[in-house]
Amino acid sequence: MLLVGWERKMKVSKNETPFITDVEELRSRARKSINNGAITPAYQADVKQTIEILQSVLATEIVCILRYTMNAVAAAGISSDSVKEEFDEHAKEEQGHARAVAERINQLGGKPNFNPEGLASRSASQYVDAGNLIDMIKENLIAERIACEHYRELIRFFGDKDSTTRVMMEGILANEEEHANDMHDLLVAHEGNPMLPDHS
Ligand SMILES: [Fe+2]
Ligand SMILES: [Fe+2]
Repeated sequence: MLLVGWERKMKVSKNETPFITDVEELRSRARKSINNGAITPAYQADVKQTIEILQSVLATEIVCILRYTMNAVAAAGISSDSVKEEFDEHAKEEQGHARAVAERINQLGGKPNFNPEGLASRSASQYVDAGNLIDMIKENLIAERIACEHYRELIRFFGDKDSTTRVMMEGILANEEEHANDMHDLLVAHEGNPMLPDHS
């Protein structure tokens, strides 16, 4: 898949130390659970596949909690207080997402996987130890954009097959879109130029 404008820009602008190693790799990993799942008319098989997909969403949310919490603690520098607050707020909301997804896995008869072992490989977003405030904001923006794209795909996938899971994911997606927007606003406030294309 071709990289969209802002992603290409990120890769090029920091080519010596890219913020993320490979967006496509993250996406293909995120999609694997959809493409590999055996879609059969058997109800049990669908539930199994849904649980598998939700385990990956849970891992993504846990990584988001960790990243925002670490960022809230590590953020330093001029006018970092408001950014810290924002990171903290997002960490709490990601925790709400993780909890909702875990509850849904449980409802479906699965056991939510909170095992730290293999967490990064189950997640669609990456845990990156960003050095400064701007890099932290950029990393979070990238992670949110990946989560939004992945969740949109999952919403289409669940469609009418599992409307409860779909509605839950729609709620989470709306919140992730707010997060991406918050990070973008912070970036503009701290760096002065927008990273996303201007559609106005
Ligand atoms: Fe989230
Ligand atoms: Fe988020």
